[in-house]
Amino acid sequence: MVSLRSLLFCLLLSTCAYATIVSHDGRAITIDGHRRVLLSGSIHYPRSTPEMWPDLIRKGKEGGLDSIETYVFWNAHEPTRRQYDFSGNLDLIRFLKTIQDEGMYGVLRIGPYVCAEWNYGGFPVWLHNMPGMEFRTTNPAFMNEMQNFTTMIVDMVKKEKLFASQGGPIILAQIENEYGNVIGSYGEAGKAYIQWCANMAQSLDVGVPWIMCQQDDAPQPMLNTCNGYYCDNFEPNNPNTPKMLTENWTGWFKNWGGKDPHRTTEDVAFAVARFFQRGGTFQNYYMYHGGTNFDRTAGGPYITTTYDYDAPLDEFGNLNQPKYGHLKQLHDVLHSMEKTLTHGNISNVDFGNFASATIYTTDEGSSCFLGNVNETSDAIINFNGTTYDVPAWSVSILPDCKTETYNTAKINTQTSVMVKKPDEAEDEPYTLKWSWRPENVDNVLLKGKGESTMKQLFDQKVVGNDESDYLWYMTTVNLKEQDPVWGKNMSLRINSTAHVLHAFVNGEHIGNYRADNGKFHYVYEQDAKFNPGANVITLLSTTVGLPNYGAFFESIPTGITGPVFIIGRNGDETVIKDLSTHKWSYKTGLSGFTNELFSSESPSKWSGESVPFNRTMTWYKTTFKPPLGNEPVVVDLLGLGKGTAWINGNNIGRYWPAFLAGDDGCSDECDYRGAYYAEKCQTNCGEPTQRWYHVPRSFLNSEGDNTLVLFEEVGGNPSLVNFQTVGVGSVCANVYEKNVLELSCHGKPISDIKFASFGNPGGKCGSFEKGTCEASNDAASILTDECVGKEKCSIDVSTEKFGAPECGGAARRLAVEAIC
Ligand code: GAL
Repeated sequence: MVSLRSLLFCLLLSTCAYATIVSHDGRAITIDGHRRVLLSGSIHYPRSTPEMWPDLIRKGKEGGLDSIETYVFWNAHEPTRRQYDFSGNLDLIRFLKTIQDEGMYGVLRIGPYVCAEWNYGGFPVWLHNMPGMEFRTTNPAFMNEMQNFTTMIVDMVKKEKLFASQGGPIILAQIENEYGNVIGSYGEAGKAYIQWCANMAQSLDVGVPWIMCQQDDAPQPMLNTCNGYYCDNFEPNNPNTPKMLTENWTGWFKNWGGKDPHRTTEDVAFAVARFFQRGGTFQNYYMYHGGTNFDRTAGGPYITTTYDYDAPLDEFGNLNQPKYGHLKQLHDVLHSMEKTLTHGNISNVDFGNFASATIYTTDEGSSCFLGNVNETSDAIINFNGTTYDVPAWSVSILPDCKTETYNTAKINTQTSVMVKKPDEAEDEPYTLKWSWRPENVDNVLLKGKGESTMKQLFDQKVVGNDESDYLWYMTTVNLKEQDPVWGKNMSLRINSTAHVLHAFVNGEHIGNYRADNGKFHYVYEQDAKFNPGANVITLLSTTVGLPNYGAFFESIPTGITGPVFIIGRNGDETVIKDLSTHKWSYKTGLSGFTNELFSSESPSKWSGESVPFNRTMTWYKTTFKPPLGNEPVVVDLLGLGKGTAWINGNNIGRYWPAFLAGDDGCSDECDYRGAYYAEKCQTNCGEPTQRWYHVPRSFLNSEGDNTLVLFEEVGGNPSLVNFQTVGVGSVCANVYEKNVLELSCHGKPISDIKFASFGNPGGKCGSFEKGTCEASNDAASILTDECVGKEKCSIDVSTEKFGAPECGGAARRLAVEAIC
């Protein structure tokens, strides 16, 4: 609601002419007094580059969205207390202005806790290290910092007049994030905290409504909203709050060792249509464009670099078809019904067997939904004298209550098959020429020398404020052959919460641990050879994204939390020597990072001689030509182990192709029917979790050399590394008659029609087959005439065009496969 103060303010400054009044009633968000059907999509600015933003946002608009949603990422903006960064892809204001330039609305989810599979859920680690700190509760130090950051963001946005109340694009703001999911763990303090959040937000006077997602006790005037795959049953906690869905998950994120999630287009569309059938008014896709977790921004532990999310726009910004197009059609239909949906009287008809009709009626007309929530049986619904075929788990939309213009399960949009293509800038076959250098580990491995010492084992977050993935823990132990622990069989036993652990004794790598089973608190034990006299024990703890979700997630230990023992076994006697309170020496980070070996200007010496393979702690460097064209670029890191990659000094993220996705739980068949869950419809079993890494074009120099630097932690072979471009290889469609098929090669010409048949063709994209009935006119030559050589073509799928094959009364379809 617009506060009186901001209204007066704009009157005084006479800027009101441009101000947009955003308010709400129980039915909908209203903009300048009009109740709206609002479709929105999440695009997180740091997960792409400023050069990509206009295209991504424009694609959102063309996809039928009204608004773009983003979180604000506190730890990225305030990496050190009171030192701020809004440069490059952290330029929030530029992102918001891009939304404005494209004529769209914005939803600003400040949090500042965001979850988002983002490192530490967006909290800076220095916050954790402040004295007396407790997160997300009535802790004065926490509230002070949260208020400080939130106020600063609001002030920045206000200064640029970006709230709708100031004439800007932002129609909604969010405080906290899904606190309702965990509030129970915080007792009475949790309730007081959420009340404080509401008051604090309200006091910032942004002039647009505030939302709180998953907060069913949201204090007024906060609007509580729903997150989830389906929110049709959600009821806000106040009759004056419209029904809003802030996160409709379009797919899911991926972990190292995890598979590729896929949420079908039919099911996403079903969730949206059901939501609007049942009185919804605002819905946001999370994610619309997922993008990339560059640098060390991935949350965790073990969130991948790619945050593709199976979203309507893929990681690189290409259209993910048919998802993008099928949802666009849905948005257009819903928008066309805005008036009836937001003003109409609602009535329902129950047909039994989970089938129902919802009728929205105003004086001017009515709009209807026919829903079938049955997971297996299709419904034949007789409605107002007409028979409709509503497939299982689908919704049909009849904007005039007569004509079905959309069904969530009947896809009339093309499927685009994306392919990776060799880089044409290089002669084929090409191999990159590598030089290398070792990471300098002598001091830590042989001398156990760090920057500070303590007689204690510390959580990794406490040392170095998470400035690096790497923390060395080192101690020197003097052993005599007379010591009770001395024996023939000795081992090192480490109680650890390191995401990846490397253990060394006297410079020798005795082994490492990786949490294949998802257990990040474990006991690692390995035989080790000790010498009489001084022994240097060096443990390297590696983080792979700090946790981002759950009550008290900020206190989940990370690192070598101990105890650490030397175990001696002599016959049936086991002697344990506890090293936990020994003098431990600490060193944060690796010297190659400190010396910026990744920088193009680094003066360090690299050797082109005997480039080693499968060597731990090794730096590799190469130069390459920028791939031709303007399609997105990826680097294929197959063959490498685990590490970090830089393009011209830009950190493109952690890589880990050696981590294969599990073998089980994939299937070629994917039934869109029935409730989705993240493990449904997975692919990529047994393959590297992530092999391709996005290289934004803006990281490349079009002239001169481009460098790729790799830091390889566990050992790998760079000889297969190569650059590729990602584009559409072929497009397919399987469209019912009486629809218009748009075929497009996304800006490139269609070069050939590989298959076309009108009738009842079978099979799927890549393996279509002719059916038992087929039109007399040759579909392939019709399509060749109308499409080949063009970037796109529009085909009227009708019997007039293709002939009228007798298909036993069933609806006829046109199946096409075209090569781009
Ligand atoms: C939600 C959260 C989002 C994101 C999502 C899963 O619970 O609000 O930030 O983490 O889950 O992708």
